[in-house]
Amino acid sequence: MKELPASQAYRVLEPGPIVMVSTSDNGKPNVMTMGFHTMIQHDPPLIGCVIGPWDHSYQALRKTGECVIAVPGLDLAETVVDVGNCSGDRVDKLQRYGLMTQPARDVSAPLLRDCLANIECRVVDTRLLDPYNLFILEATRIWINENRKERRMMHHRGDGTFTVDGGTLDLKDRMVRWRHLP
Ligand SMILES: Cc1cc2nc3c(=O)[nH]c(=O)nc-3n(C[C@H](O)[C@H](O)[C@H](O)COP(=O)(O)O)c2cc1C
Repeated sequence: MKELPASQAYRVLEPGPIVMVSTSDNGKPNVMTMGFHTMIQHDPPLIGCVIGPWDHSYQALRKTGECVIAVPGLDLAETVVDVGNCSGDRVDKLQRYGLMTQPARDVSAPLLRDCLANIECRVVDTRLLDPYNLFILEATRIWINENRKERRMMHHRGDGTFTVDGGTLDLKDRMVRWRHLP
């Protein structure tokens, strides 16, 4: 077998769909791309997100404690990569990339209208920020956009290449131990 450096474990264990994170700092909305996220707990629903302190979004999230995690479909692929290659410090990314927004219910960060799903989140634990830049977020509301035709999500392989969702495999009948999950 070919050996990969241990530092590239993330390329093997993809963390989930590539997402965009919106924040709002002093009324100025911004958006970044994020691949390093993971579900932590079902109830209350906790999500772990690694956001580097070099990102403008880090400062906004630390200050406001609020964000939206938006899941884009394949039709937004190029935008997702471009959004992750520039900073809200310098450009208004929502305007530059024509991302339409609408107000969220619980948080100041905006929902991204063209995404498949938007999750409103509040920061509930910052203890792992110093060692790992890991925000623990609680999802407070989820909005699904059922009008998007393109429903395939993208999974980042760590180097600017992506695996795209294929078919759905329904093995619910075998999930005997986990039927209680919503
Ligand atoms: C595919 C992709 C995945 C990324 N994943 C992350 C991530 O998980 N965490 C992070 O801090 N930055 C990640 N980035 C980088 C940020 O999106 C990038 O630094 C962004 O420009 C920050 O924007 P901001 O300064 O406006 O917050 C990723 C970029 C790309 C293109």
